[in-house]
Amino acid sequence: MNRRHFAAGLAVHVVGAQPRRKYKTAVVGPGWWGMNITREAMRSGQCEIAALCDVDENQLKPAAAEVKKSSGDRPRKYKDFRDMLAKEKPEICIVATPDHWHPLVTIEAIGSGAHVYVEKPVAHTVLEGRAMVTAARAAARVVQVGTHRRVSPHCVTAQDFLRSGKMGKIGMVRAFVHNASGPGVKTPDSEPPPGLEWDFWCGPAPLRPFNASIHPKGFRYHLDYANGTIGDWGIHWFDQILMWSEEKWPRRVFSTASRHIKRDSADAPDTQIATFEFESFTATWEHRQYAGNAAEKHPLGCYFYGTEGTLHLGWRDGWTFYPHAKGASEIHVPPRLNAPDDQNIRELFADFLESIQSGKRAVSDIESGHRATTMSLLAMLSWRVGRSIAWDGARETIPGGKDANKLLSRPYRAPWKYPKT
Ligand SMILES: NC(=O)c1ccc[n+]([C@@H]2O[C@H](COP(=O)([O-])OP(=O)(O)OC[C@H]3O[C@@H](n4cnc5c(N)ncnc54)[C@H](O)[C@@H]3O)[C@@H](O)[C@H]2O)c1
Repeated sequence: MNRRHFAAGLAVHVVGAQPRRKYKTAVVGPGWWGMNITREAMRSGQCEIAALCDVDENQLKPAAAEVKKSSGDRPRKYKDFRDMLAKEKPEICIVATPDHWHPLVTIEAIGSGAHVYVEKPVAHTVLEGRAMVTAARAAARVVQVGTHRRVSPHCVTAQDFLRSGKMGKIGMVRAFVHNASGPGVKTPDSEPPPGLEWDFWCGPAPLRPFNASIHPKGFRYHLDYANGTIGDWGIHWFDQILMWSEEKWPRRVFSTASRHIKRDSADAPDTQIATFEFESFTATWEHRQYAGNAAEKHPLGCYFYGTEGTLHLGWRDGWTFYPHAKGASEIHVPPRLNAPDDQNIRELFADFLESIQSGKRAVSDIESGHRATTMSLLAMLSWRVGRSIAWDGARETIPGGKDANKLLSRPYRAPWKYPKT
């Protein structure tokens, strides 16, 4: 923490003379994950849940009832986040909508004066992420991204181990997610359920006929609204790779992907491989949504390959170091995860509150979230253009990539306007 930030934090607190306070808090998108964050906000004892905003009443009503039951707060209910932000002027805004909405809601919330906890991936296209960083810095607001693995106890000790020199020189990292979801089935388009404003849900993204496989939760596999498994899961592991290496971005990316098995109504690849070239190591990504089995020991995570051994960093399986030296013992560190859903939101939310109080940079600051998201998005971009792309991360452009540079943003559906970088 630098001195100026520390002093600024003190000033706020001495005037308030309260070590703990209730932050006026609003939640946009209180669905599955949004409620996991809201539960931690309530549990912190420092947040009053003043407002909930969702375009779907079927999500909004149970969320409001749970908040009332758990905390006694009576959050006001909204459908339009602009309306909510203008009327409530929350100090904290939690953004847990589907990905295509993160940038506009976050930027509007920052503009209204709120500190923001926004879910990963930060954006749907690269330049939206840049616009979020610009907005956060311009308004000097804390913007924490939901990459809770940054503070997962086992990830923290794995990062220490990776940096300790005990791995020797690491030349390659393999990040992956495999599951056994299989081909799936088609879901017919239908009328949106009563209470859901489907046009608003689609927002700046293309307006598609409603399909129950998109909402709730299923949007991650529909490319108009998200970026498939590499967008959903890849960002967590890319973030760990950037943390360990202290690199900011890869200099070249190539990805190939397909739908070999899936027969459902989504369009995200069920099979994807990506390669990221860095100065001193190569990183790869691999996912498949079938053939999850015991043949491979770990279902997801990252293998770091060093000259002294291999470290697997996982989730429910913690981390394990497999040494090269004959006779040397494996080292295993189990995870410490919170219910429900085995996550570390509590630790990340605590850091968010501490950052607001002290003025320190949040551990999952928007710039880090933007960089990790960009790795996922560049892989998707390479797959779309069908070739490898160079990346000038300082300028956030693809050298010599006229066609590819167009895909760093996308047209917004009126009346929504692409945010300014
Ligand atoms: N950090 C993690 O480990 C983690 C885990 C799960 C999900 N997530 C992220 O959380 C986000 C939400 O995912 P989910 O699975 O909870 O989805 P969900 O469908 O359960 O919830 C999203 C909610 O946002 C609402 N919504 C959509 N547009 C809105 C708008 N304009 N204004 C207000 N509400 C709007 C939807 O109606 C829905 O209730 C995603 O970005 C996802 O990647 C992160």
